[in-house]
Amino acid sequence: MTIRGYERFSAHAPTEAFMASRVGLRRVTTSEASDLPALVAEAAQALRDGRLVVFPTETVYGLGANALDPDAVREIFAAKRRPADNPLIVHVANAKAARSLVRAWPAEAQKLADAFWPGPLTLVLPRDASVPDITTGGLDTVAVRVPAHPVALALLREARVPVAAPSANVSGRPSPTRVTDAQADLGDAVAVYIDGGPTNIGIESTVIGLVDGQWMLFRAGGTSVEGVEQVLGAPLALVAASETRALSPGMKYRHYAPRARVMLVEGGADEMARAFERESAAAGRVAIIASREHAPTGPHVRVPGSRDDGAAWGASLFAMLRDLDAEGYDVILVECIPDVGLGRAVMERLRKAAA
Ligand code: TXA
Ligand code: MG
Repeated sequence: MTIRGYERFSAHAPTEAFMASRVGLRRVTTSEASDLPALVAEAAQALRDGRLVVFPTETVYGLGANALDPDAVREIFAAKRRPADNPLIVHVANAKAARSLVRAWPAEAQKLADAFWPGPLTLVLPRDASVPDITTGGLDTVAVRVPAHPVALALLREARVPVAAPSANVSGRPSPTRVTDAQADLGDAVAVYIDGGPTNIGIESTVIGLVDGQWMLFRAGGTSVEGVEQVLGAPLALVAASETRALSPGMKYRHYAPRARVMLVEGGADEMARAFERESAAAGRVAIIASREHAPTGPHVRVPGSRDDGAAWGASLFAMLRDLDAEGYDVILVECIPDVGLGRAVMERLRKAAA
């Protein structure tokens, strides 16, 4: 399966050439390191020392700590102001390392790993005793993923510890797709920031888990639900509202929201024009995020791409929300796009941002 732009960060180890091409990237750290390999080495050491590191993945920037060190993981919750019952995803360099963190590795897990790792799919499975309570929010399961970003993989290999990493934003804010977004939210709480440029998928991983023998969708994300179902040969079950707290604790919290009020607009150019008039009269400065098909023109308008290009919307949505905030808009009107492929993950986030 292909995700737009995703091939760039395919299953390969970072080559010397890639690392060399990134030398000279702006470093957002007080370190003395002069190039990316040195910065990765310094970040790996910081992780082993129990400190926090911000690093790029193919989805969004992560705020990492040694997943097996409860004191280090506690720092993540403090820096993000994250509720303690919201478990973290543990990042590892390969499926073998993931297997060492779980008690059960069903045949489907291997099939999914073969199909999607490294990549934006997170698997929730019964946890091994080595994974501390704080990392899993007290649950008996652990979420594992192998990210498809050469810098993330280099860091994980060099750290030689599994890395717990939520998105590197303050809880409730849009996830960071640029290192400067993470820095704006987290400031001095982080020992090392690694700048890998803008992330290419732009929305977080798809999270699925095995519950009583049935694979369930906990969060739509950068791997399409349709693609996962194709590999499983069966549809994913959805989490009932009454079970969200127990099964998918992160989903109950407000998320992805800029300071401006986000309002969703169903329909085409006419509906958007009416909403714009109404909100401008009532609320002040109004921005629009709309498809190429339906967008008006003007300095207040951002166009992620076609209505049918969920991947393009995913890639730019969070950065647009943050940038429109920085420009001082009071309201952001966003066109609803079809709930298919990555469009589903985009709409899931927009509904939460608007809630
Ligand atoms: O793409 C991503 O997944 C990014 C990058 C950094 O890898 N990380 C990320 O982490 O989005 P975070 O913490 O923002 O979201 C983790 C999600 C939450 O919805 C959380 O509730 C869910 O994964 N999760 C983690 N462990 C879980 C578990 N044991 N059972 C159910 N859900 C779990
Ligand atoms: Mg998050």
